[in-house]
Amino acid sequence: MFHSILLLPSWLFILSLLASNVHGARLVDFQVAQPPPLPQDATRCTVLILKRTFAFSFGAPEVVQLTPPTDCGVPGSWAGISLNFTVTSNGTQFDRLGIVTFQNVEIWRTSTPEPVRGDGIIWTYLKDVTRFIPLFSKPGTFILQLDNLIEPGLDGEYATTLEATYFASSQEHPPAPRSDLIVPLTTLRTIRGTMLPSPPGFRSVLYPLLLQQQNRRSHRLQLNVTLPRNAVAAYAELQASGNGNEEFWYFNVPNQFLGDLPAGTTFGNGPFREVRVLVDGQVAGVAFPYAVIFTGGIVPTAWRPITSYGAIDLPTYHLDLTPFIPILTDGKPHNISLDVASAEPDHRIDQNWFVSGLLQVRLDSSSRPTTGRITRYEASNFATSSASGSVNGEDVHITVSASHSVHIEAEIIGGSGARTEVVFTQALQYENVQDYLQNTTVQNVFQTASGQVLSRHNGEIALQDTFVYPLVINFAITSPDGSNFSVAVDHSYDRILRPAPFILGSTIAERQLSGGSFHLAPTGNTGSNGTSNNTFDYVDTTGHTYTRQVNASSNVITLDRQGGNLAPSPIPDQLSEVSPAQAVMKARLPGGRVIGGN
Ligand SMILES: *[C@@H]1O[C@H](CO)[C@@H](O)[C@H](O)[C@H]1NC(C)=O
Ligand SMILES: *[C@@H]1O[C@H](CO)[C@@H](O)[C@H](O)[C@H]1NC(C)=O
Ligand SMILES: *[C@@H]1O[C@H](CO)[C@@H](O)[C@H](O)[C@H]1NC(C)=O
Ligand SMILES: *[C@@H]1O[C@H](CO)[C@@H](O)[C@H](O)[C@H]1NC(C)=O
Ligand SMILES: *[C@@H]1O[C@H](CO)[C@@H](O)[C@H](O)[C@H]1NC(C)=O
Ligand SMILES: *[C@@H]1O[C@H](CO)[C@@H](O)[C@H](O)[C@H]1NC(C)=O
Ligand SMILES: *[C@@H]1O[C@H](CO)[C@@H](O)[C@H](O)[C@H]1NC(C)=O
Ligand SMILES: *[C@@H]1O[C@H](CO)[C@@H](O)[C@H](O)[C@H]1NC(C)=O
Ligand SMILES: *[C@@H]1O[C@H](CO)[C@@H](O)[C@H](O)[C@H]1NC(C)=O
Repeated sequence: MFHSILLLPSWLFILSLLASNVHGARLVDFQVAQPPPLPQDATRCTVLILKRTFAFSFGAPEVVQLTPPTDCGVPGSWAGISLNFTVTSNGTQFDRLGIVTFQNVEIWRTSTPEPVRGDGIIWTYLKDVTRFIPLFSKPGTFILQLDNLIEPGLDGEYATTLEATYFASSQEHPPAPRSDLIVPLTTLRTIRGTMLPSPPGFRSVLYPLLLQQQNRRSHRLQLNVTLPRNAVAAYAELQASGNGNEEFWYFNVPNQFLGDLPAGTTFGNGPFREVRVLVDGQVAGVAFPYAVIFTGGIVPTAWRPITSYGAIDLPTYHLDLTPFIPILTDGKPHNISLDVASAEPDHRIDQNWFVSGLLQVRLDSSSRPTTGRITRYEASNFATSSASGSVNGEDVHITVSASHSVHIEAEIIGGSGARTEVVFTQALQYENVQDYLQNTTVQNVFQTASGQVLSRHNGEIALQDTFVYPLVINFAITSPDGSNFSVAVDHSYDRILRPAPFILGSTIAERQLSGGSFHLAPTGNTGSNGTSNNTFDYVDTTGHTYTRQVNASSNVITLDRQGGNLAPSPIPDQLSEVSPAQAVMKARLPGGRVIGGN
């Protein structure tokens, strides 16, 4: 994700050109995902939220008012809500980060597929936002921030349409379970007179002076949060993405080994990242993030037309903050902070991670204050980690391991007398092995983050996140002048996720094998190609299922099999005629690497 373009010029990326005169149909891009598990036979109300073409849109998000429809039942009584984000783009452009917020709460972090010139691209993503019904039940400010740049060499605009569909509840489709209150964990800042919620870090893009903060320990978001005194449970959802110099964070090396590599090979501060949540300075939980590869990553043709998994719908992370309820309900503001730490001795990271979050809060039936206490607290401030490296001639091998365990117990007594014993545990592991071979022309990473997050309330599972995120990347520079390079990626997302008792749980097993070759030349990137082979398996706690096997080779879908009771996806994967045009493509290499004199 290229987000710091105003400040960090061309060394971050490679610009390449391809003349294209071929006109066919628009290329249909998509991320493999389940269709929203919502009742298609319910009465539906579709509302246009916004329509906006993002040309030069830095610091100029779309800000609109959204009011709940009244034709699909009493606001808030819906069986579900989905968003339809449909975008077209024609030209040359980087992939851009998109942030969707409603009522000051970030509800969706997305990114844009890179467009092509000529007939351009189109994509549609249908996003289930049922868990945000407490926000959608009232009128409020809805914001889409999509900071795009138009400048010489970059002319792609993103023409967006965003709609919400509300599904009426009925005897057959009861109202969706929901929390009582959603509390934002975001900061507010003013842009052109409008108060906007925003993840920290964007600031440094807009205000160059803050670039000095590049080497501070971590990007920290600090908030004063006051919960209603009768809150009895709070589940956190976190948004976190590495962008700019942190886009390929898993390819960074520990500072102690940076000197073993030629200057300019990669960034320091190591490859491990954990997102931490602290309540009054105490660690309440941590997340080991999934490595989202954006569509301009290394070889853009590997991510077209099937984007890397998570690029359009970035995964979020879930923690149970209920053990801290006795502290948070004392009627006073408390300091909740989010940050991102590395496994370096000083826990520093590079620029930038963008983090934000929210709390889904449950209230007691009585308005009397909740009481209780934390009865056991075992959580270290940072992960336990180790790093080792070896140098054999020109070959460098580096291994970083980390683990983090959390065990917090509490008793919560609601004003009604309801008593809850809470046990929240996390056992997370991480390993990253990197090889730099053949004078650094070959760069491999083998990374796995895995873990078990479990919260029980009176013995019942309230939250579960069991995940394994294996990532293997083989990156090779294939011509001595650096004008040709290739990548092979084997990336999986295996996750059993139950975010809260009132939020739909799902099990996803996804694997993407993708790769391709890229050719840089002033006359264009003729000969560049990409393939992407995907398997996806989804099942949720209400019995919806969806499977898909879909392959693409150089813009053409070569295999597409869908199954399960949510199939087929309502989004077409291909128009009748697909443009072979590749146009000008924007590629970025790990570590800000610059090869071939670009
Ligand atoms: C999504 O929105 C686009 C643009 O408004 C529309 O053409 C398309 O039919 C919608 N798709 C679905 C599945 O609702
Ligand atoms: C794409 O943009 C180019 C240059 O602005 C223009 O000539 C062409 O007509 C556009 N194509 C479509 C399908 O709009
Ligand atoms: C948090 O709130 C308290 C009490 O209102 C105030 O003293 C403190 O300055 C606030 N802190 C921040 C970081 O806003
Ligand atoms: C909030 O917590 C963070 C993390 O412990 C700490 O660095 C910061 O000083 C605290 N801020 C306030 C206003 O207490
Ligand atoms: C290794 O790469 C560097 C930089 O590209 C180059 O200057 C050097 O000659 C290479 N060494 C060998 C042995 O190829
Ligand atoms: C995808 O499958 C095709 C057909 O079997 C194969 O040629 C290609 O190498 C595969 N791509 C990857 C990245 O594994
Ligand atoms: C790079 O790849 C292109 C396309 O496959 C090929 O035509 C060209 O000869 C290669 N360049 C070098 C220096 O190997
Ligand atoms: C992609 O291009 C590379 C380099 O030109 C070539 O070796 C490879 O066979 C091509 N792969 C496909 C699937 O076309
Ligand atoms: C699809 O991808 C799978 C996995 O790489 C591969 O085994 C299969 O041959 C591919 N099929 C086609 C038609 O590309």
